[in-house]
Amino acid sequence: MRSSRRAAIVAAAMAALLPVTACGGEGGSGDNTVEVFTWWADGGEKVGLDALVGVFDTRCPAQTFENGAIAGGAGANAKQVLASRLQTGSPPDTFQAHAGAELVDYIAAGQIEDLSSSYDDWGLREAFPPGLIDNLTYEDKIYSVPANIHRANVVWTNKQVLAKAGVTQAPTSMAEFVDALDAVRASGVTAPLAVGTDWTQLMLLETVLITVLGPDEFTGLWSGDTDWRGAEVTKAIADYDRLLGYSNGDRDALDWTDAERMLMNGRAGFQLMGDWEAADLDAMGFRDYYGYFTFPGSGETFQWLADSFTLPRGASNVDGARCWLETVGSSDGQREFNTKKGSIPARTDADPVNYPPYQQSAMADWKTATQVPSCAHGSACSQGMQEAANSAVAKFSTDHDAAALQNALAQAAEQFATS
Ligand code: BGC
Repeated sequence: MRSSRRAAIVAAAMAALLPVTACGGEGGSGDNTVEVFTWWADGGEKVGLDALVGVFDTRCPAQTFENGAIAGGAGANAKQVLASRLQTGSPPDTFQAHAGAELVDYIAAGQIEDLSSSYDDWGLREAFPPGLIDNLTYEDKIYSVPANIHRANVVWTNKQVLAKAGVTQAPTSMAEFVDALDAVRASGVTAPLAVGTDWTQLMLLETVLITVLGPDEFTGLWSGDTDWRGAEVTKAIADYDRLLGYSNGDRDALDWTDAERMLMNGRAGFQLMGDWEAADLDAMGFRDYYGYFTFPGSGETFQWLADSFTLPRGASNVDGARCWLETVGSSDGQREFNTKKGSIPARTDADPVNYPPYQQSAMADWKTATQVPSCAHGSACSQGMQEAANSAVAKFSTDHDAAALQNALAQAAEQFATS
């Protein structure tokens, strides 16, 4: 019954992508079900969501969770459906959105409610670090509750592939990384670096930009303080193109999980991906077979992003959505979710002892490393800029026209300048 209602909502949302003029309609569930909209449909992402739902069930016994997840890495499909539902006044009861510039898109469009007073009621102002609170705040109000902090600039490895190639140490510079890629290729792996579709390519480009420009200038690319047309960006694009030369030719057709399968089955030795990959590899029983290191040359930098949950304007089960949001911000909710999701808690009161080894290292780095945001995952740039950057790297994947890529990124930054 519930799933058919959800199917109807999704069908309506997809239909709304067509030029239909009618609008309106009821959002949310209208009863005690709470439709939670994410893109955590499978693997480690679903394991994380299920763990959070377990806490929700305990804390909110009068409410029933309804899974509104739509598969597709980085929300590639979910965001389209969500945009359509928000436009047609048919929102879920709560939805996932990245802290930072992406959140501002929803706030500026008047699509989500102010949660400032709930922050006071639930003691959340003290629970999260001030920098994160800043990234969630718009014109003195706070509009979402963060579930976690993810790190984007991590390279995952297949230990057996690297051992066979004689790669015994994590590379710490671009030159060492290229040597390691050459060694793996020489051992018979033709595409040693597994890469997927546009947004995964943007992640790779961003990490190279961090390495070449350093954290401050990289951050300046998104604030308008660093010139996209500069010589260092030109160099970063050249390095990025070199790395693409070690990747799989079918990259444009692969989601991150497909590229991850290449790593798991030994058809690649390395993959740059956010630390949701730890959760996914663990969920598939691969924990003893993978290694990880921060992208060579960006080790002192923590490229962060945060999943947060919102209260959409017009949600029909507001009480249920609030109970979900309180669960997301609670210490038990954050512990159960983040121990499974590969991320670290946004709350500062978590005890690392409760976390797997990868998250323990990320928790330590979060405190000491320089934090930079991610455009591919919404903390650095608006959705318009993100879409333009994704299109530009997808085109480059085929034509390798470095000048055109740099120009497209510079133009997009001008077009979508936020300050
Ligand atoms: C989200 C993560 C998710 C990843 C891959 C990111 O944008 O923040 O929670 O695991 O996409 O789907």
